[in-house]
Amino acid sequence: MGTIQHSRQFAIVVAHDSKFGIGKNDSLPWKIDEDRIAFRGLTSSVKDPGSQNLVIMGRKTWESIPPRHRPLKGRINLVLTENPSLCLPPEVVICHSFAELTEQIGSIRFETCFVIGGASVYGYALKDKRFDTIHLTEVTGDFHCDVFFPPYKNRFALFDQSPIKEENGQHYRFSIYKREN
Ligand SMILES: NC(=O)c1ccc[n+]([C@@H]2O[C@H](COP(=O)([O-])OP(=O)(O)OC[C@H]3O[C@@H](n4cnc5c(N)ncnc54)[C@H](OP(=O)(O)O)[C@@H]3O)[C@@H](O)[C@H]2O)c1
Repeated sequence: MGTIQHSRQFAIVVAHDSKFGIGKNDSLPWKIDEDRIAFRGLTSSVKDPGSQNLVIMGRKTWESIPPRHRPLKGRINLVLTENPSLCLPPEVVICHSFAELTEQIGSIRFETCFVIGGASVYGYALKDKRFDTIHLTEVTGDFHCDVFFPPYKNRFALFDQSPIKEENGQHYRFSIYKREN
């Protein structure tokens, strides 16, 4: 018999505030260490030690990661840009359109594909039914963001939720939403 094949998973990871804001001035408007640790654990964990997860992001999200932390280690990093001459480390996969992204998702070997932002890339994933899970960190309050997560509650239902937590005066909770048929 052949080896056990784990089926590929597709998920969205996002932190939004009470107004669905996700970013301001090209960075995160909050600093929650537990969220960053949870993001790293979630996106790095694999069942098959021989495989890796894929993290997909827009160019601005890439640039919002401190240079010493990128590419995100232990994960296949894919960056979307329309710029044909954008220079990125050689191990980073570059896509110049959503059509090219769809092709790459079909050909790269990965365990879970995580879309990690920003707004238009989230929009792409929300339209693709293979992305059936949203890992959400909901940060309480209005951070006067200039970038927003697209509407999703008409297509996704709450599946699991942590109690409200607090770190340095910031209140947040972790939720999982699942796509409804
Ligand atoms: N709260 C969260 O969970 C979260 C997660 C991620 C990011 N953020 C925040 O969100 C903000 C960044 O998000 P954003 O929406 O402004 O930008 P983004 O999606 O990260 O990047 C936008 C760029 O991606 C490229 N791109 C997007 N769609 C493309 C397509 N179809 N084909 C080719 N290239 C494409 C373009 O790059 P070029 O301009 O190079 O062509 C575009 O300017 C920051 O504030 C960041 O901190 C928050």
